[in-house]
Parts: sequence; C-alpha cells; structure tokens
Amino acid sequence: MSEIRTSTRTRSQEWFARAQRNLVEGVNSPSRGSAVFAKGPVVLERGKGSRVWDVDGNEYVDFLMSFGALIHGHAHPRIVSAVTEAIATGSHFASSTPAEAEAAERVCRMVPTAETVRFTNSGTEATMLALRLARAHTGRTKVLKFEGHYHGWYDPFLLNAHGHSPEVLGTPANPARIPDSKGIPESTFAEVVLAPWNDVEALEQIIRRHGRELAAVITEPIMANMGCILPRAGYLQRMQELAREYGALFILDEVVTGFRYAPGGCQELFGLRPDLSTFGKAMGAGFPVGAVAGPRAILDRLRWGSEMVLHYGTFNGHRLTMKVIAENLDLLTADNNAAYGQLGRIGDAAIGGLRDIFARNKVRAVVQGFGPMFQIYFTDAPAIHDYRDYCAHVDAVRYSRFIYALLDRGIYMTPSNGLHWIITTAHTEANVAQLLAAANSACVEMS
Ligand SMILES: Cc1ncc(COP(=O)(O)O)c(C=O)c1O
Repeated sequence: MSEIRTSTRTRSQEWFARAQRNLVEGVNSPSRGSAVFAKGPVVLERGKGSRVWDVDGNEYVDFLMSFGALIHGHAHPRIVSAVTEAIATGSHFASSTPAEAEAAERVCRMVPTAETVRFTNSGTEATMLALRLARAHTGRTKVLKFEGHYHGWYDPFLLNAHGHSPEVLGTPANPARIPDSKGIPESTFAEVVLAPWNDVEALEQIIRRHGRELAAVITEPIMANMGCILPRAGYLQRMQELAREYGALFILDEVVTGFRYAPGGCQELFGLRPDLSTFGKAMGAGFPVGAVAGPRAILDRLRWGSEMVLHYGTFNGHRLTMKVIAENLDLLTADNNAAYGQLGRIGDAAIGGLRDIFARNKVRAVVQGFGPMFQIYFTDAPAIHDYRDYCAHVDAVRYSRFIYALLDRGIYMTPSNGLHWIITTAHTEANVAQLLAAANSACVEMS
C-alpha cells in the first residue's frame, strides 16, 4: 500500500482566513484555532463512520471524534434516522414530551446511582447545576477541585485547569492558585479549595483543614484534560470516604467517561457511589447535551417552591436530542452491551500497537489509558500520574510535531497533548492498521 499523503491545505487556509474576518480567531473555541493548530486548523467538511474529509478533499481516520462526543462515529444510520424522523415532526416544543421520559428511563437504567436525572445543554451546565445542588443540600459554599481537572468554563472551576511551568506550582499540600481566565472575581475563588490529584496524603491533609466548609468534592474519575491519567488503586474510593466523613457531597464528573468506559461509566467500573454525577459528550452522540444524575433526596431540590434550586433553560430536554439519546443508548446496550467489548478490543489494539512502534523506533514515549480513550506522552518518565508530572515531564511540543506528521498521513487528531484519543463503535481493525502505519512512518521522519 502506498503511503497516504494528506498535506495539501490550500482550501483550509483560505477558509480559515475567511473565518477570521468575522469570528474571533476564526473559531468558536480556542482549542480549535491557532492556539493549538499552529499552522492553522484543518477545516473539515463532512464525516461518515470513522472518517472525515477536509475542504481540500483529504480523507482522514478521525480519532478526535468531536472531543469524545461521537461514540458511534459520524452519521450513524440509526442516529440519522432518529434525527430525520424527529425533525420532520418538530425539533423542540419546550414542553413535556415522551422523548424526554424515554431518554431519562435509559439513563437511569444504565447509571448505577441515577435514581433520577435532569438534562442540561452541555457538560458545563451540568457541573454548574451539580455545584448549586450541593450548596443547597449542604448549606455550605466551598468546593474542592483538583489541579489539572476541567469541569467546563463555569467561574469557580477555572483554577489550575491549564498546565504551567513546574516552578510556579507551589507544594502539593499548598498548591499555587492560578486562574485560567480573566473576568472572574477573586471572591469566587475564595470559595474554591485546590488539591493535587492522585495524592492521598495531600488530600487527607487538605480535607482535614477545609472539610467542614466543603459543599462538594468534584473530580474526574479518569483525568481526561491532561491527556489520560488513571487514578491510583483505591484513590477515588478514599476520596469518596473522606467526602462522606466531612459531610461534603462527592461529585463524579463523568462528562468524558460516562457511557464510554462501561454502560454505567466509571462509577460502575470502579465501584463508586457518587452523591451526584454529571454527564455530556458520549450521551448525546454528537448533539449538545449534559445531565446531572443522583438520588431523589438531592435532585428533588429542583422541585418548584420557595426553597428550590433554580434551573431553567429553553432548550432543556430538547426533543431532537432526547430522541438521539434514546437511540444512542439502545445501540450501546444492544446484544448484552456488545459495543463495550468492541470499544475495548479496538482501543487496546491501537494502544498495544503504538507501544510496540515506539519501542521498535526507540522513541521515549508512554501510551496511557485503556480501551475507548488513551493518550500518548513523549517523556522520560515511566508514567504520568498527575498534573505536576504532566507539567514537569511531558514534551507537548514533540507531541504536536508528531500529530502534524500524522495529519499529513491521513490521521485526524488535535495537536493538543491535553486531549485524548477516542475510539468509537465505528472504528475498525483496518483503521487501527492505518494509524499504526502512519505512526511508524511519523516516528521514522522525526528520528
Ligand atoms: C470532565 C469534563 N467536565 C465538563 C466538561 C464541559 O463539557 P462541555 O464542553 O459540554 O460544556 C468537559 C469538557 O471537555 C470535561 O472534559
């Protein structure tokens, strides 16, 4: 097979120049523009299954998959039918519909701690609502979040979500507090306790100091916004225990992991019982949505009345999206959850293959994660365990050079090391073979 070349970007450059006339940075999120794609983005036109095509007609196997939103790849025929049928009879009524009840039934069937659910329009809205619920439920205001965790762009969560030079991070017991955004009042961050992740001792120390003021401890179960970092054995269980001991709610942010790692997400995988969990991405199979799930004793605070936790939204329970959720979750659970076996098999083949290629080419890199989500780190360290490791030991510049070499060889991925590779039910062994051939050739070019 001759090597695939997808390096012609003339029309991408033209479209990007045109977009910059009317859109800030030519995009709608900095993670898609020049901040990440130093040579300018690859402008995409269409997708089908595991593949996307750019405006120059180049064809790629897509491993970004809309930041993980596309659990069945692009334009899955059953999702297309669900959308087509729904839109022909009215996209959204902002009224009660059978579609929202059907979507909720499936979520509550799949997620172990979901007695009840409230849909939002994004993962950010879900974590916002979870925090408001936790504050109302506990009568406390502070939240503990972890370094390097991203929970969306709501004010209190925007502390140390970005990487920084290791010299400015402070100590694990007393981490430096670095806001990710201008425009957020200092007083907001006064309500935030910051802790390093995957470090039980530091957590115990910090919770001993602040535990009684905490409304919630919020964590990603697998750290997905510094690549893909797994929790140490027993760490999340201990976190849950500590939160309970101090009367804080344990919020598991499953926006990335939910419906991806298992039918019941990481709470099923790791045997956790979060007080609240948040979802998005894979739940909507490409449609904008989020959700907060948990016990009635907490979510019932949303019920109308003078003591209620307010949550409005014109687009909440959007009919089209609810239809997509039902179809998506039926696809994922068909044949006794066969999709999860497939995601695991294909993902593990890609991970194992990449590890072999790096070893054969004597490239110092680790591939972390398993099954449906993983990340490559160019590093001398044996593993990346947390934000501090990531900031100190990961060569993100080399990673972006590697991704550019892959982009020229028919593999679509973001050059940001902070994201992660996504396997969907549309990916095949042939796609993995194409990835490995491209990765091998990229290693040779970079050596
Ligand atoms: C763990 C986590 N929580 C929340 C969010 C926010 O979700 P959204 O982008 O849908 O607002 C993200 C987005 O990447 C995320 O990774």
